Order: sequence, then C-alpha cells, then structure tokens
Amino acid sequence: MSLSISEALSESKQLAGYSDSSRLDAELFLAAALNCSREYIYTWPNDEVSRRQLNTYHSYLERRRGGEPVAYILGRQAFWDFNLTVNESVLIPRPETEQLVEWAIDLLSCCSSDCVHIADLGTGSGAIALALASTNHFWQLSAVDVSEGALKVARMNAEELNLTNIDYIHASWCDGFTQDKFDLIVANPPYVAKGDPHLREGDLPFEPELALISDESGKADIRQIAQSSREFLKDDSWLLLEHGYDQKQEVEIILKRLGYKDIECRQDYAGIDRMTIGKWFV
Ligand SMILES: C[S@@+](CC[C@H](N)C(=O)[O-])C[C@H]1O[C@@H](n2cnc3c(N)ncnc32)[C@H](O)[C@@H]1O
Repeated sequence: MSLSISEALSESKQLAGYSDSSRLDAELFLAAALNCSREYIYTWPNDEVSRRQLNTYHSYLERRRGGEPVAYILGRQAFWDFNLTVNESVLIPRPETEQLVEWAIDLLSCCSSDCVHIADLGTGSGAIALALASTNHFWQLSAVDVSEGALKVARMNAEELNLTNIDYIHASWCDGFTQDKFDLIVANPPYVAKGDPHLREGDLPFEPELALISDESGKADIRQIAQSSREFLKDDSWLLLEHGYDQKQEVEIILKRLGYKDIECRQDYAGIDRMTIGKWFV
C-alpha cells in the first residue's frame, strides 16, 4: 500500500489524546522520514510516500503514542539559532533558557571581549555554552557536566557548529576548576523536588533524573553551586541561575546568606519567576 503525503498526514489523528500538537508532530515526523522540509510537504501534498518512508513515519507515530518526546524521537531540538542534537542523556533545552542566555549576554556587554571567561555548570546538550560561544568567538567557555553521556552530546554539537572556544570538563559543579576565575558563572541546574507531581507530566518522565531532581526540596544543587562558585568568580562578577517557578525567595535567601549582592530575579515570557543573579565582590 502506498499513500500520498496528505493521506499520510491525515494519520496525525492517531496522536489525538497523546499529544497537544498532533498535526505539528505528524508534519515533523513525515518531513524527517522523507528527509525534506515541512514547506516541501505543504507544497507537494500529492507526492507519494514510499513503503520504507511510511514504515519510518509509522514508527515515529508509535513512539509518540508511547509518550516519548518529539525531540528524542527525531534526535533534534531547536535552541537559539541552532538545531541541536539531543538524546536521552540530556535535558531537552527549553525556550525559557534562551532568556537566561539573553540576560548573560547583557551582563557581559560591558566587559572588554578579549579576556571574558564564562562557566556553564551542568551544560547538558551544551545549549547555553554554545549560544554564548557563538555570540562572541573571543569569549572562552568552560562547560561542565557530571554526566559523560551529556558531555558527549555537548561536544558533538560544538563540533557540528564548528565552535572551538569551549572546553569541556567532566566534574561535579566547580570541583574541576583549579586556578580558573570567571566573569560569569551561569547554570540551569536540577531544581525539582523528589516526588514532585510535575515529574510525571509531559516530557519529564523521559528526561534524565540527574538533570531534573535535586535534594532539599529541589534546592541542594543551587545551594552547592552558589557556595562553590564564590572561589572562582572574579571581583565584581556574576552568578546567574535558572530556577523553579516557586523558588525565587529561597534562591534569594541562599545568595544573600552566602554574601552575594545586587540580587535580582527576572520572569520568563510566561510571567514566571525564572532566573536570579547575584554579584560577587572579592
Ligand atoms: C537542567 S539540566 C540543564 C542542561 C542545559 N544546561 C540546559 O539548560 O538545557 C541540568 C544538567 O546538570 C547536570 N548535573 C547534575 N548534577 C550535576 C553535578 N553535580 N555537577 C555537574 N553537572 C550536574 C545534569 O547532567 C544536566 O545536564
């Protein structure tokens, strides 16, 4: 049996009840199976889909019905200007993290660019480090992760994007630094409490626990990062953290107690308190 593109797309109704974006998911799956753009499938709805392409498409639909995130099925996720490789070793980069990157760029805009050193703690797919490294090729990035699997993906993405101003460090938070001093330490750490019901929703059940869950009701890693970063921040430099929607006050208390100044929280585009900075004076 062969089907046209438009007939194949009508099978998107198989995803109703499994996905809030069933038509879009089906378009992305079919475009991937055909190795073409979504524009192509709009333009040529009567083109025939081969048996092999249909099998691939059906296998994607099947996996999606099992709840698997589109990004893991396709192995790609858009972030910043890129289309990053992702797999089950890394968190799927979120749009709100692009706002963290924008804030980081604002903070660094007053530094003279030739000696800027930035750390991205818990780099995952490399999303934050890659966005910053591509913004200014003179900035030097240190991207840290405790997961070998994540670092493999991050390195692969850097290679694909031809970005060479990033060093990868396999370590827990700041443990891999020696004499390094940074103008900015940025982190999107795990911050969800164990047992939080959100962990059963959406893409989260498929993402690595290491990327999501933190002790002390989600605060342990934020506290550890804030504590250990002090030794590696230059005078008058910044720690920038992404955190949970209800953690603004707790993060502020942690930073204040550890001696950070000029603490400020910003909301994401959804109006959620999402990221906080603290300034470090030696
Ligand atoms: C929320 S994910 C963020 C990934 C990426 N930065 C992003 O924004 O998409 C947190 C990352 O922290 C890493 N991680 C967890 N515990 C860590 C630790 N003790 N030291 C370093 N990295 C850690 C995880 O492997 C994961 O890649």
